[in-house]
Amino acid sequence: MRFSEAFLDELRSKNDIETVVSSYVQLRRSGRLLSGLCPFHGEKTPSFYIYPETQSYYCFGCGAGGDVITFIRTAENLSYADAVQLLANRAGMAMPEDQVDDGTVALRKRCYAANREAAKFFHTQLHSDMGKEGLAYFLSRGLQPATIRHFGLGFAPNEWTALTKHLRSLGFRDDELIQFNLARKSKNGGAYDAFRNRVIFPIIDLQGNVVAFGGRVLDDTKPKYLNSSDTIAYKKSRGVFALNFAKNSDEKELILCEGYMDVIALHQAGFTNAVAGLGTALTEEQALLLSRYAQQVNICYDSDEAGRKAAEKAVRVFSKINVKIKVLQLSGGKDPDEIIKNHGPEKMRAILSGAMNDTEFQLSRAKENLSLETEDDKLSYANEAVKILASVPNPIERDLYASKISEETGVAKPTILAQIDRQRRNHQKNKQKEQFLSIEKEMSSFAKSEFYPPGTPVRTRKAEEQLLASLFHSPDFLQVACADLQGTDFSSQTNRTIFERLTALIAQSHHPSIHDFNDCLTPSEMGHLSKILSSSEKLGNSPKECRDCVCVIKESPSSIPPTGAGHLSDDEFLKLFHK
Ligand code: UTP
Ligand code: MN
Repeated sequence: MRFSEAFLDELRSKNDIETVVSSYVQLRRSGRLLSGLCPFHGEKTPSFYIYPETQSYYCFGCGAGGDVITFIRTAENLSYADAVQLLANRAGMAMPEDQVDDGTVALRKRCYAANREAAKFFHTQLHSDMGKEGLAYFLSRGLQPATIRHFGLGFAPNEWTALTKHLRSLGFRDDELIQFNLARKSKNGGAYDAFRNRVIFPIIDLQGNVVAFGGRVLDDTKPKYLNSSDTIAYKKSRGVFALNFAKNSDEKELILCEGYMDVIALHQAGFTNAVAGLGTALTEEQALLLSRYAQQVNICYDSDEAGRKAAEKAVRVFSKINVKIKVLQLSGGKDPDEIIKNHGPEKMRAILSGAMNDTEFQLSRAKENLSLETEDDKLSYANEAVKILASVPNPIERDLYASKISEETGVAKPTILAQIDRQRRNHQKNKQKEQFLSIEKEMSSFAKSEFYPPGTPVRTRKAEEQLLASLFHSPDFLQVACADLQGTDFSSQTNRTIFERLTALIAQSHHPSIHDFNDCLTPSEMGHLSKILSSSEKLGNSPKECRDCVCVIKESPSSIPPTGAGHLSDDEFLKLFHK
């Protein structure tokens, strides 16, 4: 879809990249650029850069790049048109009347509408005759009417087509309900309700749309919970229950629990910063999302073995992400819901204030199955502890724990510290090796880039990228140095697209910028273009340099055939594969 240039110009001027990105990433000024931790991959040192002059960004770690529209496309997982829509809304601009829709915007809207009607239906049922049992269930679990309303909880009646019939009466078609996961296809081709005889927890995204549901049985039947699977409006691996509320709490911390009921009980008790994943192990996407809304995440998983295993896994997921982690030690119940029910909010507050940091958590895990009565136990604990402490960066902290371990095991403190040092030196060596490998990888990533056909010489790749970068800088070089160059001379389809769009823009005397490429490149191709542009600082920027590039490109044997291989003579065809 194409928007008018004037519309896109206004859209960009009202959505300064620095302002838009800074609501996702903490940015720090470094010279003319801004840098921060990349929101698209886990990292601890910033390799994500904003170029205010060109209103673009590029991550040297993962290769993501583009302009403000590409950023929103990637960060919010939206199509080009939806990203434009979001930015237009953000800037209070109306969308152009004559926009052509590729269908996904309308379909997603339809899905939101169906989900909203379904949520209303479930909530109404809870207060009807048919939903008596559901309401009684929630009340028996200690929920107040205000909490039930706040979370929009509901009940799916014990019938086959209660919701389906209701949504049909509102004009939704069976195939839509099936696609939106609200109904399933029956053998005779009809549809029946996906959720039956379950209390319902609506899942709401950060924009306030109902995107999915969780449903719990009223007794001990299995499965205990059913969760919607992915739809056009919902991706489970990115979903976080109650983040729509928790993001508004004043706390700089979030409480991450396992279950819906835990979150609801915590909110009811005043802990409005509680959230939960949705029936899957914590994903990196969820962890990144949480890190955007908090400086610290308190992991508050169940106190059983499954919960502790899950907490260990979550700690590992978070270890790649720049957010402080604490692990809560639950006591007085198996989960927050039980603890609050049995001992009140005060107990929960005490647990929160006594939260262990991740070192303490790992040490206590290492100690768990040992009695520390026998020499063997003491030794294996000391060995485990040394391994854990070797990765603690702060020497004061290491010293502190070393004293504790020495007391617990009877191993002299200097011995423990010496062992830790040895392990750290080993780590250091491995790290240097890793760094060396990563430089090597970077070099070869240039050669391996997905944007070139295999076998394209690095020399050719460099020449193509350098030439494109120069043309962005000095469009007049096109006439001076590239008179006989054609899109088909490029080895890479992406570079060809970029060159052809560039030529067209320059022909209209338009000074090209990255923004002109959103509608002809995918987000990952935008990253490729962004990389090309970010290297333009190193250009000699002379017509001579451009001509040299053109020569190398022309020499390259693997040019793209102008109209497909079918139109080539046998000789020409064979030449394509000649290395
Ligand atoms: P739990 O089994 O710990 O349940 O599962 P809970 O949250 O304590 O539930 P109550 O208190 O018995 O009502 C924790 C979370 O794991 C997911 C759900 O998101 C649940 O809240 N889960 C659990 C499922 O998705 N499916 C299941 O069958 C069970
Ligand atoms: Mn529970």
